[in-house]
Amino acid sequence: MIAIYPGSFDPITNGHLDLIERGAKLCDRLIVAVLRNQHKQPFFTAAERMEMLREVVGENPRIEVDSFDGLLVDYARRKQASIIIRGIRAISDYEYELQMALMNRRLCPSIETVFLMASEAYSFVSSKLVKEVFRLGGDVANMVPPSVEARLRERVPRGV
Ligand code: PNS
Repeated sequence: MIAIYPGSFDPITNGHLDLIERGAKLCDRLIVAVLRNQHKQPFFTAAERMEMLREVVGENPRIEVDSFDGLLVDYARRKQASIIIRGIRAISDYEYELQMALMNRRLCPSIETVFLMASEAYSFVSSKLVKEVFRLGGDVANMVPPSVEARLRERVPRGV
C-alpha cells in the first residue's frame, strides 16, 4: 500500500516529522510530497524544502521525498497511491481538511484520505508560526529539527 503525505512543508516542523514517522507505519511506502507551485509564495524553495525533509527523514527505504504540482489526486494516481495522509491538530483544521478530503474523493473516489491526530506536544506548532517566532527572536528549538533551525538561522533575518 502506497500512501502520500502532501503539504507545503515551509519548513518541516516536528509535528510533520511525527506524522511522517507514524504514517510510515501504516503503509508499505510513504511518499512525502512537497507542493511546488503555490499561490501563496513559499519562503523556502521547493528544492530547499525537499532537502530539509530528506535531512530529517534520513535513510528509511520506505519513505520517499518528492514534489508535485497540479492536482494532488492526479499525482497520487501517477504514483499508484491509494491513501492520502493528513494531520489534524485542532478543530480549526477540520473544516479545511474535510473540504479537501471531500473534493479529492469527488475527483477520485478510489483514493481514501486518512487523518492522523497530531501529537499533543505539537498541536500548536505550524510552519507559519515557527517562521514568525523565529523572525521575532523567539526560540523554536523544540518545534523544528536542528537542521531546520540551522537553515532558519541562515535564511531568516531576525528581529524584523
Ligand atoms: O501543508 P498545506 O499547505 O496545508 O498542504 C495543502 C495541500 C498541498 C495538501 C493542498 O493545497 C493540495 O493538495 N494542493 C494541490 C492542488 C489540489 O489538488 N487542489 C485541490 C485539493 S482539494
